[in-house]
Amino acid sequence: MQLHKFLIATISFGAIIFKTSAQTNTKITVRADQIGAAIQPAMWGVFFEDINMGADGGLYAELIKNRSFEFFKPMMGWKILGKPLTEGDFLIMNRQKMDTANPRFLHVTLHNNTKGSIGLNNEGFRGMGIKNNNGYDFSVNYRQASPSIKMHVELVNEKGENIGGTTITSTSSDEWKKVTASFTATATVQKASLNIWFEGDGAIDLDMISLFPKDTWKGRPGGMRADMIQLLADMKPGFIRFPGGCIVEGVDLSNRYQWKKTIGPVDQRQLIINRWNFEFAHRPTPDYFQTFGLGFFEYFQLAEDIGAEPLPILNAGMACQFNSAELIPLSQLDPYVQDALDLIEFANGDATTAWGKIRAGMGHPAPFNLKMLGVGNENWGPQYIERLKIFTKAIKAKYPNIKLVNSSGTDPNGARFDYLNSALRSMNADIIDEHYYRKPEWFLQNASRYDNYDRNSSKIFAGEYAAHSDKSQQATTKNNLEAAIAEAAFMTGLERNADVVMMASYAPLFANAEAWQWSPDLIWVDNLTIYGTPDYYVQKLYSLNKGTNVVPATMDGKAIAGQDSLYVSAVIDKNTSDVIIKLVNAGGIAINKTITITSIKKLAASAALNLLKSGSVTDVNSFATPEAVSPVTSSVPLKGKELNVVLPAHSFSVYRIAITK
Ligand code: AHR
Repeated sequence: MQLHKFLIATISFGAIIFKTSAQTNTKITVRADQIGAAIQPAMWGVFFEDINMGADGGLYAELIKNRSFEFFKPMMGWKILGKPLTEGDFLIMNRQKMDTANPRFLHVTLHNNTKGSIGLNNEGFRGMGIKNNNGYDFSVNYRQASPSIKMHVELVNEKGENIGGTTITSTSSDEWKKVTASFTATATVQKASLNIWFEGDGAIDLDMISLFPKDTWKGRPGGMRADMIQLLADMKPGFIRFPGGCIVEGVDLSNRYQWKKTIGPVDQRQLIINRWNFEFAHRPTPDYFQTFGLGFFEYFQLAEDIGAEPLPILNAGMACQFNSAELIPLSQLDPYVQDALDLIEFANGDATTAWGKIRAGMGHPAPFNLKMLGVGNENWGPQYIERLKIFTKAIKAKYPNIKLVNSSGTDPNGARFDYLNSALRSMNADIIDEHYYRKPEWFLQNASRYDNYDRNSSKIFAGEYAAHSDKSQQATTKNNLEAAIAEAAFMTGLERNADVVMMASYAPLFANAEAWQWSPDLIWVDNLTIYGTPDYYVQKLYSLNKGTNVVPATMDGKAIAGQDSLYVSAVIDKNTSDVIIKLVNAGGIAINKTITITSIKKLAASAALNLLKSGSVTDVNSFATPEAVSPVTSSVPLKGKELNVVLPAHSFSVYRIAITK
């Protein structure tokens, strides 16, 4: 053996011996008979933001990019097919005075054109994912003074071959009309595109050119991608926070999220640039805009669909402090505060109220039962507190039962955090939103973060977090096992402190594999497929095994937060009469442990185990191997009230044991 190899082998062996011998033989005790803090039904939720093409090009199932020609470059995403006969056969027109939300349209002039001579092509969002035998709804708003013009609509594959289509014969009309036609695709294609060939003579105006699959979530026309919602629904999230994130703030105040502009007819929802379009020089996304086809009504509806509490976050009169840091003067904050009051009425008011009536008119007469509202995302400084006080006073005066979520800034420590933490607590803030994007080590070291928080002060929303395996290399940061295990370990601390931590959500939620700006993310999609990361499975395991009350899990009488690389929390579920024990082995050596479960009643003869592990900490899931790192279920026998567990290296185990008579 060469000397250096010998040394490495000896050192590694020594390390193993050291690690093994450093493990204590101490048993773990779970006191299922000492029922502790109640776990909020909404404890484990999801954070949605239109980042990484999460909405347009993602959840919102529209396949046409720039359907209303409102992108900064009006023909972005579009190509003219064939050769226009004269200059000006395709013109972008602007009717600013008559339609400020959607001023542009396309004016096309034909000269006795035959099918296939002149047309338009839309490339979709990195292509269009089309499924064989699936139905598609094409629609267009048009206006046409001259007699009939035909529009031959065809989906084509990468080779330009037809994979389904329809023909629309427009009738002359001086008014704008919407026409819809459906067809079935004849092939599955990852990157299809759409052609519209014109036939006839005269001129036609076109706007809101749209193509949706029929198989949207709940089959809603113009709805959302069903596979993406399904992964959320499978988690049974306790809440959904929307619409972000930094898009709430905007790079400047004109770019902030304004919920009132996201409801009502989709062609009246004014498009704005998505701030993630240009935020990162290493990930420019020039075709990233917010059409708001997915707006506040749809977010509320989505929350209801998946049984999650809605948690909207509103702008606090401050643009992103990393960008323009624009502020609304305190004397001019009223419209912002009014937006918050109106939103509560939109969500909860009956149909006799102004905003409740609008909600009812959109097809939801029943209230959405909003209980929480966020004011400000990642805002900091006295400027935030000043504005927040005005919001809080007005909201609490009218809606005392609405819990307000307040920002503690961008980081979980430091001067800004300390200032906000103390200012918010002196205001008796209901819920403080803490964010942490940190290395895996931070998550391990902070599993006890909340053990010493004041039990009688504001509650915590761990609103955005993710372990970044390499934060210095954001473009290559992967959702690997190491990150997922670190998060699982940290979450034992959230669960153990359920009397302080009300809610938690990983962030960001979705990423389009070809159009992302921020990595890691919980769920990745391409045009046709989707996969959950190892972090997704951690979130899901927590959410599906939430329980109703914390019970003590100790080793040597202490909470287990890093001893022997172990992190443990336990709950009971009063509804199902189960004890649920979550164990994370964050170390590189398997651990055998005996768990004694004290219970005044008998326990079942075996425990159901969900085990998340993999061969290497760098293992990831992918489109090709979507479940490479995912939980495997099995059954493990108990000996009376003792459970012997084997905790593989870098693993997360969830044991569920029924309490019998
Ligand atoms: O989750 C991505 C971004 O991280 C959010 O928009 C922002 O709140 C945080 O800085």
